[in-house]
Amino acid sequence: MRDILVINTSVSGEDSVSRLLVADLLIALTRLNPDIRVTERDLGAEPIPHLTTDTVAGVRAMPATHAEQESRRLSDRLLAELRAADTVLIGAPMYNFGPPTALCAWFDHVLRAGETFSYSETGPQGLLTGRRAIVIESRGGLYSEGPGQAVDFQEPYLRHLLGFMGITDVTFIRAEKIGFGPGARDEAIADAREQIARTVERLHGPVY
Ligand SMILES: Cc1cc2nc3c(=O)[nH]c(=O)nc-3n(C[C@H](O)[C@H](O)[C@H](O)COP(=O)(O)O)c2cc1C
Repeated sequence: MRDILVINTSVSGEDSVSRLLVADLLIALTRLNPDIRVTERDLGAEPIPHLTTDTVAGVRAMPATHAEQESRRLSDRLLAELRAADTVLIGAPMYNFGPPTALCAWFDHVLRAGETFSYSETGPQGLLTGRRAIVIESRGGLYSEGPGQAVDFQEPYLRHLLGFMGITDVTFIRAEKIGFGPGARDEAIADAREQIARTVERLHGPVY
């Protein structure tokens, strides 16, 4: 692991649990390998624009107008950040049972036929193989068990889109029941920190 692309998406600034845990994981990874290079893309603080009628051709067709060329440039820049990374670390709160729309807008810009996936005779093929993703999910409620499981549109969606680009090695770290009061929040953070420690150990061997 040398080049990490960190994508934060929470709009909650310093109160954000996912941002806290992303920072924790980065500290642990940097301690183990001080040479890692980190590129940060903050979609919560500086969202990229959603595609519009004026800009969609910049991503999905041949850009012609100024607005389309601008959106092609942004898409190229985001793609370059993604390609340069061997590890993508995403901080993803659950908003309305799915990922933040800012993250969906990012996928709209990087899912480009011929760049991150292609169509073959056997169906679509992801082109960004040889990379891993770690996704830190923060949720107000509980979705990993019980009735909430059926309405978790966040994790399956993220797993599918990353896999669609060829990133099939995905670790999810969940911080759940954040909305159940301060005690539950602390417990969720402690539990997620244990998941982080296990993930780091799996990637680098035991940490003493
Ligand atoms: C706009 C919005 C929508 C949310 N929707 C859900 C939801 O559908 N389910 C849920 O469990 N929590 C929901 N929450 C709560 C967040 O998932 C929770 O506060 C989480 O900690 C946010 O991550 P963060 O702390 O990194 O910002 C929502 C929060 C916001 C701001």
